[in-house]
Amino acid sequence: MSTVATDVSLFAPYDLGPIPLANRIVMAPMTRNRATGNVPNDLMVEYYAQRASAGLIITEGTSPSPNGLGYARIPGAFNQDHAAGWQRVTEAVHAKGGRIFIQLMHTGRASHPANMAAGTQVLSASAVPDPGPGIYTDAEGMQPFPVPTAMTVTDIQTAVQEFADSAKLAVDAGFDGVELHGANGYLLEEFLNPAANQRTDAYGGSDENRQRFVLEVAAAVVAAIGGDRLGIRLSPYGVFGGMAPFAGIEAFYGTLAGKLNDLGLAYLHMVDHSAMGAPAVPQSVKDGIRAAFKKTVILSGGYDAARAQADLTAGKGDLVAFGRPFISNPDLVVKLKSGAALRAGNMDTFYTPGEVGYTDYPVD
Ligand SMILES: Cc1cc2nc3c(=O)[nH]c(=O)nc-3n(C[C@H](O)[C@H](O)[C@H](O)COP(=O)(O)O)c2cc1C
Repeated sequence: MSTVATDVSLFAPYDLGPIPLANRIVMAPMTRNRATGNVPNDLMVEYYAQRASAGLIITEGTSPSPNGLGYARIPGAFNQDHAAGWQRVTEAVHAKGGRIFIQLMHTGRASHPANMAAGTQVLSASAVPDPGPGIYTDAEGMQPFPVPTAMTVTDIQTAVQEFADSAKLAVDAGFDGVELHGANGYLLEEFLNPAANQRTDAYGGSDENRQRFVLEVAAAVVAAIGGDRLGIRLSPYGVFGGMAPFAGIEAFYGTLAGKLNDLGLAYLHMVDHSAMGAPAVPQSVKDGIRAAFKKTVILSGGYDAARAQADLTAGKGDLVAFGRPFISNPDLVVKLKSGAALRAGNMDTFYTPGEVGYTDYPVD
């Protein structure tokens, strides 16, 4: 019998492998579109430093490739300007005792050429457009989603290498680690989900084939930076970006979690967006993932302090991510602990450039 009691309080320190976290509260990755020119800037340094009391910050989705910068003003992590900008972010967060992972998000088909540099391509598993109403561009306003180019095997190999190179660049810029965005309908989930993957080669069809690209990316990043520094975000039952639940989804995510576990990843970050209108992820699916993935599991979606503590106490996960509450409450950790009322955020400024609705939320 173990004599070491584990403190599962939301406010207790937690060791994410070799990385000590001050508490079990994670700031969820949130795209905020302030990176004009796709380069992290002073405003972003201030924003992340303001939120450094989270046990772990996961940055906004950040592209490992010029082909993955499909939204307006999202940051990249593939050249020296990006690295220099991010280095200032990581230094500012570390100076305040925080820890920070970068989320690598290749936007895949959720992209528009008007947001992207000349010579880039909108890529996906198959030439199937996002069925959503459209995508915002700074240059041309709202536009229909383009038909993406189905990736060749060479394109896939290039993308795998881009993820690995980007992860290395990010760790060299001071990040404590990297989260692969395998959720919410972007490139990695476009391979996992048959709603977007209609391939007939080794990357489409069977469960094993649809998992292949994600597992190749994960293996390449493990080789580049080590499994202790890598997590992944998955959204079974997510419907964002034209995704849809599919036959056999429970077994699919159970086996995927097991294979990611075997690759040695540090954490698996589960998304349940039922608080945002998606179908709830059945508890059996969450339990299957929890059973297959032996290391840290992060829970996310619609949490408040009471439900977060209840789920930690019940052993459903090890860390809990909060998204929207962190936008309008930079001092969220203090407020969750004291029970103080949370400040409401303004959705109109979630994605707009500049400091309004970004760095101007006060500490109460
Ligand atoms: C403004 C905004 C931007 C988001 N951007 C991302 C993103 O870049 N990557 C990601 O994985 N999830 C993203 N999400 C989803 C959040 O990480 C989180 O899962 C969601 O907000 C539900 O958690 P909450 O109820 O605590 O807000 C975003 C959510 C919001 C509100």
